[in-house]
Amino acid sequence: MKILVTGANGQLGHEMKNVLEDKMPGITLYTDINELDLTDAKAVEKYVLDNEVTHIINCAAYTNVDRAEEDKLLCASINVNAVKNLAAAADQNGAKIIHISTDYVFDGKSYKPYCESDKVNPISQYGTTKRQGETSLLALAPNSIIIRTAWLYSPYGKNFVKTMLELGATRKELRVVCDQIGTPTYARDLADAIYAILSSQQWVSGIYHFTDEGACSWYDFTKSILRIAGLKGCKVCPIPSEDYPTAAARPYYSVLNRNRIKVTYDIEIPHWEESLQDCIKRLKEED
Ligand SMILES: NC(=O)c1ccc[n+]([C@@H]2O[C@H](COP(=O)([O-])OP(=O)(O)OC[C@H]3O[C@@H](n4cnc5c(N)ncnc54)[C@H](OP(=O)(O)O)[C@@H]3O)[C@@H](O)[C@H]2O)c1
Repeated sequence: MKILVTGANGQLGHEMKNVLEDKMPGITLYTDINELDLTDAKAVEKYVLDNEVTHIINCAAYTNVDRAEEDKLLCASINVNAVKNLAAAADQNGAKIIHISTDYVFDGKSYKPYCESDKVNPISQYGTTKRQGETSLLALAPNSIIIRTAWLYSPYGKNFVKTMLELGATRKELRVVCDQIGTPTYARDLADAIYAILSSQQWVSGIYHFTDEGACSWYDFTKSILRIAGLKGCKVCPIPSEDYPTAAARPYYSVLNRNRIKVTYDIEIPHWEESLQDCIKRLKEED
């Protein structure tokens, strides 16, 4: 087994490295754009062949949801073309792919957790390109596994938890959207789930949903972040989405049903608040 983790400097890439170096040491290659630009088809093909890669975990993506509305070409080249390049290289070399997608493939008009078979209807450029990445991958490399996740955070890079911790320590009041419902997901938990797939005896291709357990609004999430961090001097006020305009539209409801991955790979998923405590503990230890 020779595993390639792409986007290794990102949130999930970092956590993937932590998990695999601990549980499957010495068999994984880690690349980000400086080592391997996934939009370069020839370079991808050569890398997979030269290194005899058997499994690709694609953690690379264009993830800035608002900037994607302007930056359409770059967003599509990373979220669609790069995925096609990986699929072609994997197909030629018999490698298997685990690719990460998003809850933003849905329009958010549901009132119950989305299943993998539910109709997609992305409402942003980011969501549209991520969906195109999914369909391209399944067409070119149907043996792939796609995991849709949501609201990722970790001790690495920029994310909602780190932003709220900074703002909560310096501001007296924060106004946070209370009418978008989803599930905060600790990148470490997703990395553990990917490890469970890699180390299992079975490879069942197709789409899976993975988030932490539970659901909340960005407002609820912020209240928990500040409470767990002990930041008592900042008041959190709920506001509707219309009072916080953003370049990209976001689904009002994007909770994912995680039964398929839990049953197929016998995965136990922690509640988002439990995992949030672990992340904040790690961030405090780093200080
Ligand atoms: N973050 C979320 O809330 C969220 C929610 C749902 C789904 N997801 C999905 O989860 C996955 C992991 O997200 P994440 O938050 O870990 O992403 P991230 O932190 O933004 O990391 C993505 C990594 O990919 C790299 N990259 C960009 N273009 C590349 C290229 N051409 N070749 C190689 N690498 C390239 C980025 O480098 P640069 O930083 O230099 O661009 C970055 O290091 C993605 O598929 C994302 O769409 C994320």
